[in-house]
Amino acid sequence: SVHSIILAIESSCDETSAAIVKDGQVISNIITTQSVHEQYGGVVPELASRAHLQQIVPVVDAAIQKAGISKKDITAVAFTQAPGLIGSLLVGACFAKGFAQALNIPLIAVHHMQAHVLAHFIEDPKPAFPFLCLTVSGGHTQIVLCHSHLEMEILGETLDDAAGEAFDKIAKMLQLPYPGGPLVDKHAAKGNPEKFPFPIPDIKEFDFSFSGIKTAVLYFLQKQQKTDPDFIQNNIDDICASVQHTIIKALMKKFEKAAKAYKITHVGIAGGVSANSGLRKALQEYGVKNKWNVYLPKFEYCTDNAAMIGITAYYKMMKEQFADMSVVPSARTQW
Ligand code: KG4
Ligand code: ZN
Repeated sequence: SVHSIILAIESSCDETSAAIVKDGQVISNIITTQSVHEQYGGVVPELASRAHLQQIVPVVDAAIQKAGISKKDITAVAFTQAPGLIGSLLVGACFAKGFAQALNIPLIAVHHMQAHVLAHFIEDPKPAFPFLCLTVSGGHTQIVLCHSHLEMEILGETLDDAAGEAFDKIAKMLQLPYPGGPLVDKHAAKGNPEKFPFPIPDIKEFDFSFSGIKTAVLYFLQKQQKTDPDFIQNNIDDICASVQHTIIKALMKKFEKAAKAYKITHVGIAGGVSANSGLRKALQEYGVKNKWNVYLPKFEYCTDNAAMIGITAYYKMMKEQFADMSVVPSARTQW
């Protein structure tokens, strides 16, 4: 029998990752995070590209070794084509092209946001179609209606900041190091979510807006610090709990509205913010209330990883959706 063994590369932001996917099963998934950005309070694109260039060969070698295969067993190479930081994407794209050229095997170009959704198809139980996914990452916030593995429709998205971006920017105001999302989550677990009410903007249909919450928190902190210079330190848990509660409420309100409008019962969350414990809990609770079948990805498959790129490539390969050698990465573009 003919086996498919895909080498997948993810390099869209500040994680260099490589995975091996054999006949639709992830057999290795190596992820390295770049620590160089911490001191700048955000990802510095130029430094990200340079770090990818240093990491890519050892990360690919580690993925191949962990899978217990040899390079010549690989039958296709997949890479993240868009969206992301262009310099970072170029490193992965060039590596994948060179690898495909050298081994004379096909190349598969993968859309990063489609891959976040398909992370739900790495392990059982896998969602049934139609499947509604709330994709929440550092760069995107989307409600995606999946008709099949590769037929996806964006029902709504953020008009300004992404949910992860809101977490990170508010964390920065709270003097937490980058990326602040996971730290807000930690503090929130110890705080009172009703302590400081922040407004949720009313946006049309299934769209979102998170820039208003960010500004509301900024003005609130400035006002409080006038009378209590240590307001942040003294209230960090309650502030984080209140902020997180507001973001989750804004997300779930639109997601529930979309699920009802399209009569969807199989639902899930994806992307970096789907690692948030409050959001995971909220989805479960809304699931009980609405009788949904709820799917939560493993933590390892929430944030950026090559396993999700490899799984997407597997479905594209079955449909013979290969890329031409002239393919180039792109910072933006819809799938
Ligand atoms: O999907 P991802 O790894 O990268 C992008 O494609 O953007 O998402 C990263 C985002 C960051 O904004 C990070 O702060 C956020 O996901 N994040 C979290 C948590 N873990 C990661 N936000 C809130 N709570 C978490 N536990
Ligand atoms: Zn991502």
